[in-house]
Amino acid sequence: MAEILKIDENALRRAVTLLKAGKPIGMPTETVYGLAGDAANEDAVLAIYRTKARPSFDPLIVHIAQGVSSTQDLCEMKLVSSSVLTPSVIAKVDRLIAAFWPGPLTLILPKHSSVSDLITSGLPMVGIRMPEHPGAQALLKSYGRPLAAPSANRFGRISPTSAEDVQSELGDLIELILDGGHCDRGVESTVIGVASDGGFNLLRPGSLPIESIESVLGDTLRVPDAASSAASPGTLASHYAPGKKCYILPKPVIEMRALDWNVLPDVANKRVGLLVPCGHVSLENLQSLPFQVTEVCELAPTGDEREASRSLFRSLRALDASACDVILCEPVQRDQGLWIAVKDRLRRASQRL
Ligand code: TXA
Ligand code: MG
Repeated sequence: MAEILKIDENALRRAVTLLKAGKPIGMPTETVYGLAGDAANEDAVLAIYRTKARPSFDPLIVHIAQGVSSTQDLCEMKLVSSSVLTPSVIAKVDRLIAAFWPGPLTLILPKHSSVSDLITSGLPMVGIRMPEHPGAQALLKSYGRPLAAPSANRFGRISPTSAEDVQSELGDLIELILDGGHCDRGVESTVIGVASDGGFNLLRPGSLPIESIESVLGDTLRVPDAASSAASPGTLASHYAPGKKCYILPKPVIEMRALDWNVLPDVANKRVGLLVPCGHVSLENLQSLPFQVTEVCELAPTGDEREASRSLFRSLRALDASACDVILCEPVQRDQGLWIAVKDRLRRASQRL
């Protein structure tokens, strides 16, 4: 079992000692908990991959302390090399940094030669993010060097949004988890990259809405097709998955007719956990279903997207741990703001029908 410590001077001292020894630790951020290790120590980076059982083709994000305000600053820190970027791209990156850092935006930029290929999985680009969580910032400041940190879950599983989640994922493999409470955003950062023609690609929807980024860029984000997924190797079709089978319904429960249930694998005698992304489901509607609903999780009873993203992984985890045999999700029917990230994660958490 890892030690879980609330963040204070003593906890930070202990964290710094472990990081200096190349041992990864659990770190809170505003999105999800990270498994943090010294980005400049290749043994620490290897330990992160090993601890998560993460394949080496999936690169890590480098987390930095507050105080950086431009591409130039990132170059001076020997994280980024701006030589292949045009002045107009640099100006756009600078606008994004000014608008959204610290916060849940990861920028994929040309890497400086000092950044280890282990971090970038051999790619010429590096992901950089300045987290907003005061606990993450306190750790980065105490340590004084950038920290590589993927989400602190075993590879392919549900991302952790509390110190206890990290304990249940990796507690046997690490010594310390800094406890910064439940993650306020609840879904990972939005990842965007600079394309070779100077445009910006959306590599992963996340906690920063796409519309906010586009309004600062003055341009639309492009979504590279799956075939070019080498652009973001971590965005695999199956990810964030609970241990139980999880299916997305073609329509909300109230609209499902008897025949509609045939599209699902046999759930007739199963105990079902129902996940409702938006709004209420009335118990009355559950009475007439061809199976028993043993658990209901409503992500956003009032329809608030922030609430939905905050409770998404926590609810999936709760359903996974509950007495149900299978998880059914109502579909996300909105295609803007944070709903895009919620829909993306549910799609990757579920089986194809
Ligand atoms: O919110 C977050 O971003 C969290 C917290 C802990 O900061 N971190 C996180 O890391 O979600 P991870 O490793 O679980 O996801 C990072 C994503 C992956 O899809 C990875 O492929 C992509 O970012 N990525 C990282 N570096 C990249 C690079 N150089 N080029 C393309 N994609 C990259
Ligand atoms: Mg992850």
